[in-house]
Amino acid sequence: MSVMRIGIAGLGTVGSAVFEILADHPQFKIIAVSARDQEKDRGLNLEGVRWVNDPVQLALSPDVDVVIELMGGDGNPALSLIREALQRRKPVITANKALLAYHGFDLACLAEDNQVPLMYEAAVAGGIPIIKIIREGLAANGISAVYGIMNGTCNYILTEMGRTGENFETVLTNAQKLGYAESDPSLDIDGGDTGHKLSILSGLAFGCVPDFKSLFVEGIRSISIEDIRLADELGYHIKLIGQARKNASGAILQFVSPSLLPKSSPIANTHGVLNGILIEGSYVGPSFVAGRGAGGFATASAVVADLIDLQHGKNILPFGMPARLLSSTQKASLEDWDGAFYIRLVVKDRPGVIAEISPILRDSNISIESFIQRGRSMDQPVSMIMMTHETKGHNILKAITQIKELDCIMDDPLVMPVLKI
Ligand SMILES: NC(=O)c1ccc[n+]([C@@H]2O[C@H](COP(=O)([O-])OP(=O)(O)OC[C@H]3O[C@@H](n4cnc5c(N)ncnc54)[C@H](OP(=O)(O)O)[C@@H]3O)[C@@H](O)[C@H]2O)c1
Repeated sequence: MSVMRIGIAGLGTVGSAVFEILADHPQFKIIAVSARDQEKDRGLNLEGVRWVNDPVQLALSPDVDVVIELMGGDGNPALSLIREALQRRKPVITANKALLAYHGFDLACLAEDNQVPLMYEAAVAGGIPIIKIIREGLAANGISAVYGIMNGTCNYILTEMGRTGENFETVLTNAQKLGYAESDPSLDIDGGDTGHKLSILSGLAFGCVPDFKSLFVEGIRSISIEDIRLADELGYHIKLIGQARKNASGAILQFVSPSLLPKSSPIANTHGVLNGILIEGSYVGPSFVAGRGAGGFATASAVVADLIDLQHGKNILPFGMPARLLSSTQKASLEDWDGAFYIRLVVKDRPGVIAEISPILRDSNISIESFIQRGRSMDQPVSMIMMTHETKGHNILKAITQIKELDCIMDDPLVMPVLKI
């Protein structure tokens, strides 16, 4: 087998781990690398490896057979590097979910036009081979839903809040100290990262164009320790869930939302930094996979798996079907979510509050399965928790709009879907 000559752009958490793993795979030779700071000590032996300041040079170098993009970011230089490489018919491997969520369609078209592989197993759920599972392993199935935990940082925060009883801010600060959350955590905790991954999985599962803008995205900032405790009392765990499913009229709807899951569900039992994703296939039924969704070596494992596939001559269309046949998606809103809901209202603790809220729920066709109100201190804010029976998201939004206007409501209501799986 001839030696494959590799160019790596990005020598951070993932790039350095790929560099180390490839030391055990002599069939791959790293020819050139690029990162921002050539002086940084990365603990890697870069002797005999060419350094290029401009990562795009890797695509232009005649001695580089394969380009591995591990810089991140949803624009240049990652985008121009991948474009240049594909145009020169050089296979590309990337872990860059943000880039694929915005440019996945264009890049897949470019790869197909040039008949060259564009591989991205590491872009979703790190070390879990979820791309391969959906695109190849479940290829015989029609997929009706894909959902689960796709962001280890959020899962760690929610798990730690439940375990320690500490509030969101405290747990986030600890997660940052431990390296489980970025110094700017917004892409993780506001749901963007889950959304990027979900739009890629939707593309594979439903044959639709990855389109981040069509997602409904809600993060975990508003989850309080009280929500975690009360959900627990009701038999649920709260997780940040990315979910894509087909509705009755065949439209693909994609949601990222903190959600309640029964404690018995495998997703609810996926704790800490782990990811867990469930796929419902027409023949196979529900299939669940869990594992390390991030971390240098777990993610690098998926990058090197792509490299090995490449060496075996594998060239599968990036989305498992011609990109130009991918369909468009419909913009999702909570209005489109049919099911049970968790509602937290912060109300003034005074007589008559329930009498004010009840007619609104009744007139919106919402019936309540469970109800909890804690605390007793006249005219002080207390939380009122309601779990609804199955209803239409439209009914919930209608009721919440009216409830918000009541004089007894002291804060924005929190609404979360309840997944019955
Ligand atoms: N970390 C994970 O667990 C994980 C999991 C799944 C997917 N991913 C994806 O993998 C990719 C890499 O993530 P990471 O965690 O390894 O990131 P990282 O630690 O921040 O490393 C990024 C690397 O890219 C280099 N870089 C950034 N901008 C550059 C530019 N303009 N020109 C040249 N080099 C540039 C940096 O150079 P310097 O070192 O000189 O600053 C660094 O070496 C991202 O797309 C990420 O979303 C990461």
